[in-house]
Amino acid sequence: MTDVIMEPVHDPDPADFPAGFVWGVATASYQIEGAVRADGRVPSIWDTFAATPGRVRNGDTGEVAVDHYHRYAEDVALMAELGLAAYRFSVAWPRVMPGGVPNPEGLDFYDRLVDCLLGHGIEPWLTLYHWDLPQELEDRGGWPERDTAHRFAEMAGVVASRVGDRVTRWTTLNEPWCSAFLGYGSGRHAPGRTDPEEALAAAHHLMLGHGLAVDVIRAAVPEAEVGVTLNLYPVTPLDDRPGNLDAARRVDGMQNRWFLDPILRGEYPADVQADLEPVSSLAWIREGDLEVIARPLDFLGVNYYTRHVVRAGPFPGVGEVEFSVPHRTVAANGWGVDPDGLVEVLSRVTDYTDLPLYVTENGSAWDDRPAADGSVDDPGRLAYLQGHIDACRRAVRAGVPLAGYFAWSLLDNFEWAEGYAVRFGLVHVDYATQRRTVKSSGRWYGEFVRAHSGVILTP
Ligand code: FCB
Repeated sequence: MTDVIMEPVHDPDPADFPAGFVWGVATASYQIEGAVRADGRVPSIWDTFAATPGRVRNGDTGEVAVDHYHRYAEDVALMAELGLAAYRFSVAWPRVMPGGVPNPEGLDFYDRLVDCLLGHGIEPWLTLYHWDLPQELEDRGGWPERDTAHRFAEMAGVVASRVGDRVTRWTTLNEPWCSAFLGYGSGRHAPGRTDPEEALAAAHHLMLGHGLAVDVIRAAVPEAEVGVTLNLYPVTPLDDRPGNLDAARRVDGMQNRWFLDPILRGEYPADVQADLEPVSSLAWIREGDLEVIARPLDFLGVNYYTRHVVRAGPFPGVGEVEFSVPHRTVAANGWGVDPDGLVEVLSRVTDYTDLPLYVTENGSAWDDRPAADGSVDDPGRLAYLQGHIDACRRAVRAGVPLAGYFAWSLLDNFEWAEGYAVRFGLVHVDYATQRRTVKSSGRWYGEFVRAHSGVILTP
């Protein structure tokens, strides 16, 4: 592990980052597009989930979201105005392959989006799956079913052959931990199932789909750079009592190592497999799967939001774990603000790989309130952004091969089970009028990024 330099946060200076460091923003299809019935799109698991009473706060849905499907040109122009170099977005599977068949109108949307980005000098970073599985595939078993991995690779091929002449940066999955364990374990996310065995099978088939898609993308787009995005957390025991140390080991095992180890080392962690014995025989792991899952990559995407501080639950032996948040600053959605954790996570990944790393998401939710003149001042988000960009500087200085940073998110949007109540955008959206207003954090980020692109550094 590279040495982590802990020092007081200082205002980020563009000159601290190498030329070519990628500065961007990220979004996801279901969270922004809306237009759920347009041009042949079929329902996704999130349409179904959001339509089920009690699943999403205030009964919110992605039906309109921020209408990006129709307003993408305005949104891309906004990114250009901010001086951003890259845009990470995801493709809606139910749009591009309804009924398992390529849909020219749905594919056209991403074609237009890619052209519009390139026309503004913004590099498209395309993610193939950010949680919106077609409901028709869920009806056939969803991710716990092996076949879904093959259907995913098929979709990857269709998208790659359509935009691969213009898109070089490809990410297979966003945060498979969430798809598997929130979707099929806790049921907090779509499709809302709560079965540990299914959650584990889903995780395996997501990773299998990832590996299969890597091959398909490389075949269709020889110059593609392919990666995957994981949501990683430093996991800290509340203190060094043995029960708490073991709780930290287990949470780190399921949250981080259950994905890092297969994808980067071609094996599941033995201690976690032993923990899981009472729950699953892992019988769906077939010979050769791990080889596919561990296909060589060109980069790893890391999404970082916060740290988990854990302790054992009150009933010894039950294997329960409690999360506590002793952070000094806590964002509006309850997530602790912990920039040091980003340095730790990035440097931990260097134990696994020397691939270039990108922070593919990082951001925070605050209770933004437009002033009478319409402006939106968001000091909490601004401090978070500066603190975490400074963490990137520290990581780079410690020798981490960090090559870019994407803020979550360009726009306020549909925040999954929290609906529209939780805002993460650098740009405020008035949901009644769809009016976009750059917040003070967005203005600062734009200035920072512009200053960086003017900076020439000697190596
Ligand atoms: C991540 C998701 C992203 C967004 C942020 C706040 O886990 O990838 O879509 O919801 O959290």
